[in-house]
Amino acid sequence: MSLDSALTGPGFRPLPERAAVLLEQLGAPPRLGAHLRAVHDVACEIVTWLGERYPSVVVDGEAVLFGAATHDIGKVRHPAELSGPGAEHEPVGYALLRDLGVEERLARFARTHAAWDGPGIEIEDLLVTLADKVWKAKRVPELEQLVVDRLAAASGEPAWEAFIKLDDLLDRIAAGAEERLAFQTAHDV
Ligand SMILES: [Fe+2]
Repeated sequence: MSLDSALTGPGFRPLPERAAVLLEQLGAPPRLGAHLRAVHDVACEIVTWLGERYPSVVVDGEAVLFGAATHDIGKVRHPAELSGPGAEHEPVGYALLRDLGVEERLARFARTHAAWDGPGIEIEDLLVTLADKVWKAKRVPELEQLVVDRLAAASGEPAWEAFIKLDDLLDRIAAGAEERLAFQTAHDV
């Protein structure tokens, strides 16, 4: 199936228009478009949930959604990393976005999505990484704990309570993993 089907086919929320235009401009492989669409859809669920459950926690939701929609964009230059391991797409994707005029605030996720335990990581970076794991039902306790710590610190809620709420959300999202994986696999690399 084509990039167009990956970006506009039914079942998932549309990508931010600016992200979709960049992917088209770069001739992104359909598999990459489908992956970004699935991760973005999960990021939308997380951001909506945060707005409802943690209205006092300040999160740049626009950045999270754009980041989810572009974090792997460097794979247009390193397509082997679409089906195998590799980190070359991370700095390359960041440079690509910056060269195309994307601001640091929105471009940074291309380099931070795999460096979430490093310095200078904000809650937005953690959320993009979280979406990039749980879309396929992958649970990473250390990552989830970092998110819980931020939510508890910013809301004043006990960490155990934030943990239970986040765990419940991630369980619900993980239940849709099969559908997302099928959508992604139906698109060529
Ligand atoms: Fe990804």
